[in-house]
Amino acid sequence: MSLSSGLLLRDFRLVDETMDMLGSVWIEGGIIRDVFPQGAPLPEIRLPMHRTIQGGGSLALMPALVDLHAHFRDPGYPEKETLESASLAAVAGGYGTVVCMANTKPVMDSPAKARALKKRADALGLVDLYPVLALTQGMEGKALSDIPLLKGPLHETEPWLRMLSEDGKDVVSDEILYRALQEARRLGIPVSCHCDAGGPEAEEAKAAGKPREFWSRIEENHATQRVIELARQAQGHVHIAHVSTREAVDLIRKVKGAQQESGHAVFTLTAEASPHHLCLTEETAHALGAATWGRVNPPLRTEADRRALIEAVLDGTIDAIATDHAPHTERDKLQGAPGFTGLETGFALCRMELVRQDRLSLSRLSSLMSASPARILGLTDRGRVAPTFRGDLMVVDTEALWRVNPGRFRSRGKNSPCSGLTCRGRVLMTIYQGRVVFESFLNPDPEKETG
Ligand code: NCD
Ligand code: ZN
Ligand code: ZN
Repeated sequence: MSLSSGLLLRDFRLVDETMDMLGSVWIEGGIIRDVFPQGAPLPEIRLPMHRTIQGGGSLALMPALVDLHAHFRDPGYPEKETLESASLAAVAGGYGTVVCMANTKPVMDSPAKARALKKRADALGLVDLYPVLALTQGMEGKALSDIPLLKGPLHETEPWLRMLSEDGKDVVSDEILYRALQEARRLGIPVSCHCDAGGPEAEEAKAAGKPREFWSRIEENHATQRVIELARQAQGHVHIAHVSTREAVDLIRKVKGAQQESGHAVFTLTAEASPHHLCLTEETAHALGAATWGRVNPPLRTEADRRALIEAVLDGTIDAIATDHAPHTERDKLQGAPGFTGLETGFALCRMELVRQDRLSLSRLSSLMSASPARILGLTDRGRVAPTFRGDLMVVDTEALWRVNPGRFRSRGKNSPCSGLTCRGRVLMTIYQGRVVFESFLNPDPEKETG
């Protein structure tokens, strides 16, 4: 990008985790140069190439979102999604940074494969992509992937590597998971753990023919406890993916509480929840078909679980909101493939469900969807609307009502659990490194969109 181009965003409600105020922002060279409170004189802009975007009304300017968990399906499953379609979906959803999972074909189990994907993403120039590396070769759970070959410090050797994960599966062997956690600790990055398998009680319940809702809860609770114990022993950083049960929430809260009380933590524990687990319940799953369109791992749970997740978001037990964007074809969904497409609805769903009755402020939501996940990745240059931070921002209309129509998604995955739902809050523009990469100002009424 040319250094002489700039962007002036005037008279917006500026919201990040530290502020909620009226003002204007000047971006140049891909970086936020200045933030002006309302009423302060704006600079005279002498750049030949600059654009002014006018705020007002219910428009807010916020940091672009950071997603700790998405499945881009590239390489290997172009019928579900590609790097290109997923990146377009990400920017339409307000994302500037995305971690993508390793269950591709082939599996992302070597730095060379991940580097190739990162390179393609950089050439596209839509989002900052951070591919994870799988913990084991081919995600078969038998032998560690190439992680032991990596040399630190990673910010010098492989700056794109910020997280390890076998998401989609649990690593069954304690020994292998323990070694992976130790490797991650050596490299200074977290291991994101999927947590949905194991435990004698769950096996018993399965054998007794109990429904999936019943035993999958026991499995999640057991698996969460297990990875926390292994992380404690390995003294590493474990990040719990898609937390969904109230018991798992209680456990995470207890462990974090004990760490705080003791004043020193031998290991780091962070956790994410997905927009669908925060906003929907098993009722939606049943209405959609629990074995088909409503199927997701972990399953949508009860209203009591959902309330526990919201409490956990409010009190900081849950550190971040991550989409677990999992696009599938209609055929795969009808055959029971678990997962929901989520990049294009995550913000609106959370804005609508969580930011109301003043329980969660827009500023807290920004923290959960931008600054906090950025911290988990060790990315200190984004997630704020402040000078020197990256020019990764989004413009949202906080009050806009719109109906979710998966037919209009950029994602190839149309498997949305909120199809037909009317949401409040809409991403209208996404700015990536100072460039407008998504814009729907011209089509304020999405029902009339043609794209
Ligand atoms: C994910 C997928 O389809 O890759 N599915 C899902 O139901 N969440 C895998 C995963 O996140 O565990
Ligand atoms: Zn998972
Ligand atoms: Zn996932």
